[in-house]
Amino acid sequence: MRIYKTKDYDALSRKAASVIAAQVTLKPDSVLGLATGSSPLGTYKYLIERFKDGELDFSEVKTANLDEYRGLTRENDQSYYYFMYHNLFQHININMGNTNIPDGTTSDAKAEAARYDQVIRGLGGVDLQLLGLGHNGHIGFNEPSDYFAMGTHCVDLQPSTIEANKRFFASIDDVPKQAFTMGIGTIMAARKILLIVSGNEKAQILYDALCGPVTSHVPASILQMHPNVIVVADEAALSKFNL
Ligand code: GLP
Repeated sequence: MRIYKTKDYDALSRKAASVIAAQVTLKPDSVLGLATGSSPLGTYKYLIERFKDGELDFSEVKTANLDEYRGLTRENDQSYYYFMYHNLFQHININMGNTNIPDGTTSDAKAEAARYDQVIRGLGGVDLQLLGLGHNGHIGFNEPSDYFAMGTHCVDLQPSTIEANKRFFASIDDVPKQAFTMGIGTIMAARKILLIVSGNEKAQILYDALCGPVTSHVPASILQMHPNVIVVADEAALSKFNL
């Protein structure tokens, strides 16, 4: 595991964008696993900037997003499809046919989960998986639980996650109660993982995830077992580390 400490969120975003840019430059048809939430917004901003500067070409890149709320259509401005389109895809030369996000509107959750796993297998797996970190240690929407879920599945969101994500919705009642997420097995199968973490309020959970016991009650702790993890975090998020 390699940990890069940056001064602040902006420097973190620049660094994370550089890691993704290096991946795309070295392998133009990379499969990128992408994430939503507030953490990757700056990273996407710098990727867009590099594309506009003519440094990056996404024409052969394929993507698979980590997760999607259940019940939200693509047009809903809180769906992760909407997020990805507006914060990244529409600004770069990616072929939208090469982008993949679970379909939150399907009534048959098991069938959708199986379809999404098949999509990822069909892509040949993920080359570089970008991850944020939930306040309770979740990655994607893999909530703390008694076991690590392997493949894509539909989860009941924990009250703390609903609470954390209500800032994006008109009211807490509008936050979906379920979501589709890649499983821990899917995430761990990525050839490289880039974890980005910012802010003081994530300092303890980041420490627990990287230095504590590996347990499904802190889902991100499984990353300690992955052979190729890059962590980019700001000083505030790394304040519990002696670095
Ligand atoms: C959400 C997403 C995660 C994300 C996490 C942290 O629940 N499903 O993929 O990493 O929240 O979000 P933020 O970056 O906004 O703190």
